[in-house]
Amino acid sequence: MKLLLLLCLGLTLVCAQEGNSDVVRSNFDIPKIAGEWYSILLASDKREKIEENGSMRVFVEHIDVLENSSLSFKFHTKVNGVCTELPLVSDSTGEDGVYTVSYDGENIFRILEVDYSHHIMFYLENFSDSYKLLELYAREPDTSPELKHKFVEICQKYGVVKENVIDLTQVDRCFQERGNGVA
Ligand SMILES: *[C@@H]1O[C@H](CO)[C@@H](O)[C@H](O)[C@H]1NC(C)=O
Ligand SMILES: *[C@@H]1O[C@H](CO)[C@@H](O)[C@H](O)[C@H]1NC(C)=O
Ligand SMILES: *[C@@H]1O[C@H](CO)[C@@H](O)[C@H](O)[C@H]1NC(C)=O
Repeated sequence: MKLLLLLCLGLTLVCAQEGNSDVVRSNFDIPKIAGEWYSILLASDKREKIEENGSMRVFVEHIDVLENSSLSFKFHTKVNGVCTELPLVSDSTGEDGVYTVSYDGENIFRILEVDYSHHIMFYLENFSDSYKLLELYAREPDTSPELKHKFVEICQKYGVVKENVIDLTQVDRCFQERGNGVA
């Protein structure tokens, strides 16, 4: 009987880890999104924005939550083939998980879902020349094909075709620049 109980407990733990039980889609605990992240997938209805030399082809390193509730992002981007640091501050709108950021125009973005210790998805829109951007970040440099597949499906729901989802794990994400001066 004891053995059976232990077995059941073990199975429950395995299932909990493999399921989506830790995914949050509202009432975000924002301090928990702080820390190290890696860009995994990047998608846009204007593909040139996220292709080589596109302004939105950015690689995240770190997110900080500031005292005034703004988020401070540390990105890297390639400028003329050279990895360049790109710090950006995005201000809270007061709405749950919704922020504004001035970069290549005025943008608004929201957290679509997060599993604080695993991955986060953002949806961004309304640039100066109005286009959509979706991003998948993970705590590790790569993630499962299942999660990537799920992200592609979400992109399609937002009107971004799967051909416009770029797998950044296949490109140089400026890893050699990481870890310098992280707060
Ligand atoms: C929050 O603080 C950061 C860093 O000092 C600043 O850049 C940003 O503009 C502030 N945002 C607001 C809404 O006060
Ligand atoms: C991106 O910029 C670099 C450096 O200017 C250039 O060598 C490369 O051909 C560009 N790539 C594309 C796809 O335009
Ligand atoms: C898009 O941005 C422009 C200029 O910043 C603003 O006037 C407009 O209301 C925004 N549209 C949406 C849907 O947020």
